[in-house]
Amino acid sequence: MCGIVGFVGEKDDALPFIFNGLKRLEYRGYDSSGIALAAQDGIALQKTEGKLAALGELLGALPSGIPCGIGHTRWATHGRPTDENAHPHVDCRGKIATVHNGIIENFQVLREELMAKGHLFRSDTDSEVIPQLLEDYGGADDLEGAVRKAEMRLQGAYAFLAISSTHPDRIVAVRRTSPLIVGLGEGANYLGSDFSAFLAATKRALILENGDLAVVTPNQVTITNLAGDRIERPVITVTWDIKQAERGGYPHFMLKEIMEQPDVWGDCLLGRIHEDEVVPQELGLDVGQLTHYKRIQIVAAGTAYHAGLVGKSLIERLARIPVNVDVASEFRYSHPILDKETMVMAISQSGETADTLACLRLAREKGLFTYSITNTVGSTVARESDAVGFTLAGPEVAVASTKAYTTQILVLTLLALALAKLQGQARPDLVRGLVQIPALGHTVLNRMDGIKSMATRLAQTHDVFYIGRGLDYALAMEGQLKIKEISYLHAEAYAAGELKHGTLALIEEGTPVVAIVTEHDVAEKTVSNILEVKARGAEVWGIVDEKLPLTVPLDHRLAIPIAEPLLAPVLAAVPLQLLAYHTAVAKGQDVDQPRNLAKSVTVE
Ligand code: G6P
Repeated sequence: MCGIVGFVGEKDDALPFIFNGLKRLEYRGYDSSGIALAAQDGIALQKTEGKLAALGELLGALPSGIPCGIGHTRWATHGRPTDENAHPHVDCRGKIATVHNGIIENFQVLREELMAKGHLFRSDTDSEVIPQLLEDYGGADDLEGAVRKAEMRLQGAYAFLAISSTHPDRIVAVRRTSPLIVGLGEGANYLGSDFSAFLAATKRALILENGDLAVVTPNQVTITNLAGDRIERPVITVTWDIKQAERGGYPHFMLKEIMEQPDVWGDCLLGRIHEDEVVPQELGLDVGQLTHYKRIQIVAAGTAYHAGLVGKSLIERLARIPVNVDVASEFRYSHPILDKETMVMAISQSGETADTLACLRLAREKGLFTYSITNTVGSTVARESDAVGFTLAGPEVAVASTKAYTTQILVLTLLALALAKLQGQARPDLVRGLVQIPALGHTVLNRMDGIKSMATRLAQTHDVFYIGRGLDYALAMEGQLKIKEISYLHAEAYAAGELKHGTLALIEEGTPVVAIVTEHDVAEKTVSNILEVKARGAEVWGIVDEKLPLTVPLDHRLAIPIAEPLLAPVLAAVPLQLLAYHTAVAKGQDVDQPRNLAKSVTVE
């Protein structure tokens, strides 16, 4: 996920507009940034690693008064955050510049082909193939024609903007999955990854759809499809203010991040499945590495630890490889027994958590193979691991982790399926089921009407219990953490069968219990435990697989459509997140920045 901005005007200076637009989009990525202007003697370019302030220092080196340009704020996926990898990227002759958001899946093939033709690549990114391809197709003279030809070759999910110094009166823009919006001004038009990029200048906009190619000049926007047929998109008037726009219109980043999960899951799965099989290389692993290890040791903190618990269950059940999961702060001082047949796996959204990093270093000192699952390219965890699988969830701003958690589970599920295949236990049915998850995610989000009333009720209580068995217990752990973090309610998660060994004493008339029932094999056992708490007066809210019979004794029921119980955690996490969110809102808490907590904990 990155932010892109474009400005093309009759006479106004593009530079200040683009820099302000990037500031608005910085939430989409902030590891490097850059601006390119279509000056007549060639593209004028400044870009740098680091936050936008670093780019601000370089703006003086750009010419003023140029009315056409593009800007980018990066959140690295391919290639570390460095000056060279920052966007915009330019062609060999410095006449074309592009900014790109998304992933070009076939960039390696294209890069080799272009290098064989003599194109000079300066970065490690997938994105740099775009200006080189445009140059190859004569983009300096016919930018639109070249973009159309390039579009036929590029595979993946992306949006990009292209400018040429030969035609400084236009920006050519393409949307294929990644968001792109055109802002309509007076004597100038704008482009942005979202409205916030140009809301200070106009509230009138056109939303580009998948497959749209737009040629944007100061006074005209022409949209066509790949075949060249004209397309009309309705002009909409945005009613948001700038702050809302950064959050995509949502009142909080946490809600935005919950709601965007189905799309993010699609990004995370993209290119990682081929013909009903997982592609291990796309998880950062080669098959040789995977066959070598007899045990896996997972280390993580907070929500990432809970994802690890789901991963343990999936890897053990599907691949029959034993997995230990430990909280990083405990593991590092536990005198762990580790041997060379153990793969140590660190899970960390930020890639900077001090305890998780210490475990990784401990494993490396002992000469063990380390694999990490992280959301942050260029993070310390990513740099110090032998191999890395990225969750590709985009920047997560809210302190309470949501989309990072579900994408960590997706990567772990992919890994479990890849390992299962190597053990001769391939599950093509589950691989196909995974592909359905983004679509099912939209269905789940459309069914969440009951959550607000549950949350209003929860907001009036002091304690809540979460119960489940197997994967549902792992989910219960995350459910209770979410509600503690942002609504400050006392919450506990229990293995449903363990309740009777002590905690049942805490259940009294009206005590809320959230029961998660997606594990079919043990559903009847969980039902018995639900009956036990109900007999003591508990009010039970169930998050259940829609296929389970209505006779499950619940006071409130949220039915989740799941293709297969082993794939339930990603989908069943959504109501748990929303329940925590709406409870915090009902209590008037600061959802995105809860008291005493931090997004990234770089101290012990
Ligand atoms: C902090 C955050 C949690 C997060 C944990 C681990 O406590 O508030 O949301 O789960 O750190 O962070 P990591 O970046 O390593 O996943």
